Amino acid sequence: MSKFWSPFVKNLVPYVPGEQPKLAKLVKLNTNENPYGPSPKALAAMQTELNDNLRLYPDPNSDLLKQAVARYYGVQGNQVFLGNGSDEVLAHIFHGLLQHDQPLLFPDISYSFYPVYCGLYGIAFDAVPLDEQFQINPADYAKPNGGIIFPNPNAPTGCLLALDAVEQMLKASPDSVVVVDEAYIDFGGETAITLVDRYPNLLVTQTLSKSRSLAGLRVGLAVGHPDLIEALERIKNSFNSYPLDRLAIVGAAAAFEDREYFDKTCRLVIESREKVVAQLQAKGFEVLPSAANFIFARHPKHDAAGLAAKLREQGVIVRHFKQERIAQFLRITIGTPEQNQALIDALGDL
Ligand SMILES: Cc1ncc(COP(=O)(O)O)c(C=O)c1O
Repeated sequence: MSKFWSPFVKNLVPYVPGEQPKLAKLVKLNTNENPYGPSPKALAAMQTELNDNLRLYPDPNSDLLKQAVARYYGVQGNQVFLGNGSDEVLAHIFHGLLQHDQPLLFPDISYSFYPVYCGLYGIAFDAVPLDEQFQINPADYAKPNGGIIFPNPNAPTGCLLALDAVEQMLKASPDSVVVVDEAYIDFGGETAITLVDRYPNLLVTQTLSKSRSLAGLRVGLAVGHPDLIEALERIKNSFNSYPLDRLAIVGAAAAFEDREYFDKTCRLVIESREKVVAQLQAKGFEVLPSAANFIFARHPKHDAAGLAAKLREQGVIVRHFKQERIAQFLRITIGTPEQNQALIDALGDL
């Protein structure tokens, strides 16, 4: 602490991201990155962009990428917002759309950045417990609120909420913004973007960090009614006019154009996930049904923190959360078949 700090900084509780180890040899299954590289077409587009033009600022509206996203989802350019990772997009959403008199609602077990944004922007929230099966029950959200946000599939559980249940929440809270954080939707869910023209209170966020394997590029997006997007543009243009650099704009646009590579790599991750689930179940793990590129699993006879430590000793890192309700679970990212096998081997004969 220092006397130079603005007073509110003293009480900030920042988000702690999963470890990015410096040792290259570790099998890294802790931050839900994609084990396959980005689309070769995205890499080629960025290489072409590595030229003298880097002396110039990028397009502040990232129109090339906005149009690529709009084409991909069949929406208009003014229904798309872009940011430096979906974390930045979410920050602007919390700031611009979720700060109201009534508390914001989100699941008790969900993305641990949500309460951090609430702390940053002074937003009161109500953590709504998942049911006994760790599922979101839409009826629990049908109460006065200043907004609703949840990941779908949820993180860190991986569990998917069906689109008709999402619609039920939209109908029950027509006067609040409902944000569906679809960071992992491409690994087994159906996007709610198809609903944005019918529900002016729906905002869907996505990221290129997972299914498009560009976590290092930092690109995220939101799709919704132009009025919602305008609030986000106002915040963005009062904060940083150029959140996406020249490489990010062309690389992300090319990634959206390369549907073949995207389909192939998503399919590989899904196939591997089903195999890892079966292997873990054979070792006695209970695995929650996952529609994401990670699984959430617990073993009835082995302490999760102990298992995580044992795996780490053998060079495999997974994510363990200390939060009480989920302290006996491990969140394990799906890797390449070789990485997944290293996980299974390291667990040994439980
Ligand atoms: C549910 C959820 N939302 C958003 C994000 C942020 O992703 P990014 O900032 O890389 O787009 C993550 C990252 O892990 C996530 O798990």
